[in-house]
Amino acid sequence: MAEQVTKSRKTEAEVDPMFIDRWSPVAFSRQPVPGKDLATLFEAARWAPSCFNEQPWLFLYATQEKDLARFRSLLVEGNRVWADRAPVLAVVFARRRFQRNAKPNRHAAFDAGAAWMSLALQARRLGLYTHAMAGFDEEWSYRALDVPKDRFEAMAVIAIGRRDEALVLPGDLAKRELPSDRGPIAGMAIEGNFPGI
Ligand SMILES: Cc1cc2nc3c(=O)[nH]c(=O)nc-3n(C[C@H](O)[C@H](O)[C@H](O)COP(=O)(O)O)c2cc1C
Repeated sequence: MAEQVTKSRKTEAEVDPMFIDRWSPVAFSRQPVPGKDLATLFEAARWAPSCFNEQPWLFLYATQEKDLARFRSLLVEGNRVWADRAPVLAVVFARRRFQRNAKPNRHAAFDAGAAWMSLALQARRLGLYTHAMAGFDEEWSYRALDVPKDRFEAMAVIAIGRRDEALVLPGDLAKRELPSDRGPIAGMAIEGNFPGI
């Protein structure tokens, strides 16, 4: 299923297929993710690079129904309609200050992004998919998960699991079950100075 879908993605240069195979489906299977696989995902995230090796990311996650219900309650309706099927929901936070000197860490989001991408790529190697979401109630995430807002910033919620047939989706959602494309390399990687585009 995965290969057929990602064939629609056109590449401009040779690239490891792992990058093309990662995409964000909405049709998740309720099949649980084994604890061993979850540990592998977080192991991958753990080895991401970070400014001063501060590892400012924090993943709070839910796999049990009693926790999943609370994590789902963070999501906007447009995400909840599909993400409530995911057997794992995680919230990625970034620590706002360096632990070494308590100064603001303006690279924390950058580093948390690297950690999440490592997790997302590792997920595909295990036959799993991920889908990040900015559509969640940030204020509620601190209160619902007992996270001190002055120390951590909520970056995204991530759905993790296996894919299911798009048929399982309610309403028109099946139409969204397609990998997106990308703009050209020339618009994002430019040799030398900013060209004034
Ligand atoms: C930080 C972030 C926030 C996102 N928020 C949402 C969201 O709230 N709902 C949603 O359906 N997709 C969301 N996405 C998924 C993006 O739309 C998706 O990654 C993008 O269209 C590229 O598609 P691909 O991941 O399938 O390659 C988000 C992705 C990221 C990285």
